[in-house]
Amino acid sequence: ISRIGVLCSGGDCPSLNACLRAIYKSATQNEIEVIGLPRGFPGLLLDPPLQITCEKDTFASPMMLTKGGSKLGGSVGSDYKLIDSLSLDEKASRISAALQNLSIDGIIATGGDTSMNLISQMLQHADQDSPIPFIGIPKSIDNDIPATIYSLGFQSAVTTASQAIAAVRDTAESHRRVIVVECMGRDAGYLTLHTGIAGGADTILIPEFSFDNEKLLQHVSNVYKENQCAVIAVSEAATLPDSGKSAYYTTADGKSRLGGSAEVIARYISESLELDARHVVLGHVQRGGPPNAFDQVLASTLGAHAVKAICEGYDQKMVNWNGTGVELLSLEQVRNVPPKSIGPDYPELVAAVQMGIYCGEIT
Ligand code: F6P
Repeated sequence: ISRIGVLCSGGDCPSLNACLRAIYKSATQNEIEVIGLPRGFPGLLLDPPLQITCEKDTFASPMMLTKGGSKLGGSVGSDYKLIDSLSLDEKASRISAALQNLSIDGIIATGGDTSMNLISQMLQHADQDSPIPFIGIPKSIDNDIPATIYSLGFQSAVTTASQAIAAVRDTAESHRRVIVVECMGRDAGYLTLHTGIAGGADTILIPEFSFDNEKLLQHVSNVYKENQCAVIAVSEAATLPDSGKSAYYTTADGKSRLGGSAEVIARYISESLELDARHVVLGHVQRGGPPNAFDQVLASTLGAHAVKAICEGYDQKMVNWNGTGVELLSLEQVRNVPPKSIGPDYPELVAAVQMGIYCGEIT
């Protein structure tokens, strides 16, 4: 291996730059050149394919450890339209040409399970005789990638969102309000649950389990009586039963998007308990900002191990921190494990129940 392409697939998250730095430093240490492939996988499908030279001054700099976003940028809607408009064969032949054109003989990509699988499928289809080695690094603020404990970005998003919850409490206290804070996470409640615990929320609502409207009102009312304010952390995918509102809505361009749960719940509490309630949607704030130290270390570790794996001849693997060490899982293995989801025994959920800050049903 003399030259690898590196890309950040899917949405961004804190610590991608720390990961790019580790890849760059480990590769150059092994005399491997690194080519940046901007705008994720779709950038490779363009004619000519997108590429940038990874300058040492930027990519090896310690500043990369703390800079949010990704120096390689992410994909946008029109990029995905391009993917959708091409047949598998067209994509494969464009990718073969791009890889030849760029003289790349290995790819490392950060991504969620869907985008890692897409890349691996494309690469295998592009050159079936000798597909170029591919190593994936799991990243997702939603923390829902199968077989992972923590993916890049999750812990940082929890840090950012929990600071927001603590800030909201200041104003909720002053104005004797109920404030409902909506966290991202797509269909998974990890980000909300961890944020609610770290930020000191009075109650947490996640999509994995239903909750009873009356119990919620009772809980909020009790908290309010005691503190003259209440802060609720709610997942973007959580819905108020019987509200008739889906957590999904359709945007002008026909895309299905999540959101609105905090607004519905704040209105419901306000009308039912006659309390002054507000809602806050944290949105992409959770995806930006500097990574925390945990993610800086995780990103550096997984980035360096991805290069090690590619140097040792591995292919179609995901580097994964399993709580005690870094393992290489085959992407097929990752595809075949059950989806990751919060179950009744999830330790942080059990803790939230014990502390009286979870008022949903656990079945
Ligand atoms: O998957 C990460 C995530 O931030 C989700 O938590 C959220 O639902 C979604 O992406 C937002 O996507 P977009 O940036 O396309 O609006």
